[in-house]
Amino acid sequence: MCGIVGINSSKPVTGVIINSLKKLEYRGYDSAGVAVLNDGLINETKCEGRVENLENIFLKNKNDGPVGIGHVRWATHGIPSQLNAHPHSSESVSVVHNGIIENSTILKKHLIRAGHQFKSQTDTEVITHLISEYLKKNDLKTSILKMLKRLHGSFAIGIILKNFPDVVVGVRRGSPLAVGYGPNENYLGSDSYALKTMTNKVTYLDDDEFCFIYKDHVEFYSADGEKINKEIIEVSSEQSDYDKGNFKHYMAKEIHEQPVTIKACLKEYIDQINQNINIINFPWDINEIENIKLIGCGTAYHSCLTAKYWIEQLTNIEVETDIASEFRYRKNRFKKSQLYIFVSQSGETADTYAALDLCKKNNMKTCSIVNVIESSIARDSDYVLPIHCGPEVGVASTKAFLGQLLVLYLLTLKLSVERKDVSQAKYKEKIKSVLMLPKLIKETLSTENEIQEAAKDFAHAKGSMFLGRGYSFPIALEGALKLKELAYVHAEGYPAGEMKHGPLALIEQGMPVVVIAPRDEFYKKTVSNMQEVISRGGKVLLISNKSTDEISSENLWKKIDVETVNDDLLPFLTTIPLQLLAYYAAHILGYDIDKPRNLAKSVTVE
Ligand code: F6R
Repeated sequence: MCGIVGINSSKPVTGVIINSLKKLEYRGYDSAGVAVLNDGLINETKCEGRVENLENIFLKNKNDGPVGIGHVRWATHGIPSQLNAHPHSSESVSVVHNGIIENSTILKKHLIRAGHQFKSQTDTEVITHLISEYLKKNDLKTSILKMLKRLHGSFAIGIILKNFPDVVVGVRRGSPLAVGYGPNENYLGSDSYALKTMTNKVTYLDDDEFCFIYKDHVEFYSADGEKINKEIIEVSSEQSDYDKGNFKHYMAKEIHEQPVTIKACLKEYIDQINQNINIINFPWDINEIENIKLIGCGTAYHSCLTAKYWIEQLTNIEVETDIASEFRYRKNRFKKSQLYIFVSQSGETADTYAALDLCKKNNMKTCSIVNVIESSIARDSDYVLPIHCGPEVGVASTKAFLGQLLVLYLLTLKLSVERKDVSQAKYKEKIKSVLMLPKLIKETLSTENEIQEAAKDFAHAKGSMFLGRGYSFPIALEGALKLKELAYVHAEGYPAGEMKHGPLALIEQGMPVVVIAPRDEFYKKTVSNMQEVISRGGKVLLISNKSTDEISSENLWKKIDVETVNDDLLPFLTTIPLQLLAYYAAHILGYDIDKPRNLAKSVTVE
């Protein structure tokens, strides 16, 4: 999704901005641009497509200067094109923007009536003209304050101005924005990743705050124009691991990294000597928690769905799950006895953040499970549980999903023992099993060749289905999501027991269907459902686990066995072949695996 970089320096900045924009490529984008201020003029360079194209244009025309802003755009208003790429500049103002200006149509009408001419189809250009208009009669601070009052929606904005050549302005409402500090230069970025090659010292703006970034200092202002002091945070160095290693794609690296990332997370949370889970210092009495609501989007939502089964199984707490974009607009009954858990890899997903914000405004207990600990969701939750899996660059979430599952599982175990829903003996036994996961995940990765073979049929299919029961149902949803987003093959995840209530009609001769049926309590029932699919011509790839008893099924197309582990932990293993399946299907089709079309890593607009 869109990303912002700004620099105020005494040296030329375009090259540095372009390098920082490359750091933001993982977010997904369709065009890029940079504007610099030099000798009293604003110079823009913009292009459709990759930052690499922008770099090539820059190398030819050497448009440079000591003060500048850059942007990668993910289209919301107007098609991806050079014209719609940011920055959007008038003669005196240049603007980059993340988010959506909800009242842009009405503002545009007023501005056109006042004589402004628009070049692009974007909502952002309204900001450029609005500031230019206010600056006719006001100083810079008053103009920004007036602009903040007029704009509706969510935004992070970076601005440079011809008549204020010593400043870069940053404005935030709803979309994250960070300020970074360097030697005799300072920076603006949509997150700390954007600034990581330049500094690890950052300040995050809060909603309706703005800042003036000078070369040697930064001034922060509140929504009423008062000067404020803000904390400087040192961001963690673990974010520096962006190397693809020997892998062709980040996604392949991230799938194969999972034994290591799960081990790292276990190390953070499990005291192996005392066989205890280090989830402590809850800011509330956990015995007062009667219900848990788990909220997330996409893959993170699937980890919430999986955790529902665990929490129901191992504690007496009632559990509900919600998709953040639905939760935030529903009439919610907020209960004091409820704990709200927000799951988000990036910690910046706009809908998940809005759901958290709603809960905070209603004085609810909030906990977040995130990968990026400096993120907005982490910063604004009462309690944070990081997943410790290092930066995830591939747009399709893999290692973060397993990390989310692990933290949710450990949290469930901790709640269950603290509330005395399970015995100490059972708790310790489960800790022992969970410690086996890194080894079992590694062994399960050896199914790669078999999966690669099966992927051919999925890659060329018109459509496919993923079926499972119990814990395997959310994993079926996750497998289908991965295939859709990477190989662009229609895939539906379904509870296996629901097939005969409608979707069985979709099954036709040769349709590839994944059935997830490890030997758990649902096994026999799922195998019966599988048989119904096979009888109607479905070509079934069965994902089960190693066992001595043979599966009594006729006409099964292929079977892949993951390792064996206790039932609760099977989702960690059955997920692996599904990640590989989507990866190889996309690979066969030659798609851009790390940056699938239309998608972004960090979904900072609703
Ligand atoms: C799919 C995927 C997305 C994200 C979703 C939420 O592979 O990655 O569905 O899970 O956009 O993102 P986060 O976890 O950053 O809130």
